Amino acid sequence: MPRKINIAIDGHSSCGKGTLAKNIAKELDYMFIDSGAMYRAVTLYMLQNQLSLEDVRTNPGILLNIEISFILDPFKGFYNTHLNGENVESLIRGMEVSKWVSEVSAVKEVREFLVNKQQRMGKDKGVVMDGRDIGSVVFPDAELKIFMTAEPSVRAKRRYLELQEKGINANYEEILHNIQHRDHYDSSRDISPLIQAPDAIVLNNTEMTKEEQSRIALTWAKGVILAG
Ligand code: DC
Repeated sequence: MPRKINIAIDGHSSCGKGTLAKNIAKELDYMFIDSGAMYRAVTLYMLQNQLSLEDVRTNPGILLNIEISFILDPFKGFYNTHLNGENVESLIRGMEVSKWVSEVSAVKEVREFLVNKQQRMGKDKGVVMDGRDIGSVVFPDAELKIFMTAEPSVRAKRRYLELQEKGINANYEEILHNIQHRDHYDSSRDISPLIQAPDAIVLNNTEMTKEEQSRIALTWAKGVILAG
């Protein structure tokens, strides 16, 4: 039986971190955890219960009422995010949550609460987690750390085509501006900014297909597992 490892995937917005993480988890039969979904679930809870950022800062005990789990949809083959027993996968991707999640994820008490949960999820290994601070804060001991990036213009183009395919009206310049803004915001916030862990391997997928990037990352993962 090969040993199990934890794999941390961090990087810029709209780089395809989730797609890569899901593919690796599927191939290795590991658990995929979308840490961004957890920040989104906390944001949804706060909106549903009319809690302000200040309420959480002054009374972080409120957060203990939040139970987040990922439950496999056997028909679709992917995990849905559940908040206190309810499937909130669609709700957490909506505009209202997207609008507030950056501010919620910059609150120290929220980060402490979620990092603790994430560390417990990874304690038995066999986890692929994607986010911004996984290799630097959540799993500093992860056996494999990947830092993903791609040219902002390429990321904007992919996002633009994705929206067009879904029939959603999009403006390329606006998307590019938003990506540049989020890169700056994620990398410059005071607490747990997006940084490349010193022992992370960079995967720049500017000129790669999804298949190529998965193949490369899987080769790295299998190499690390066998070297153990
Ligand atoms: O990956 P995403 O866009 O779904 O993440 C939602 C928000 O949560 C985004 O603003 C960045 C933040 N986030 C974070 O601060 N730390 C993480 N580990 C994951 C996401």
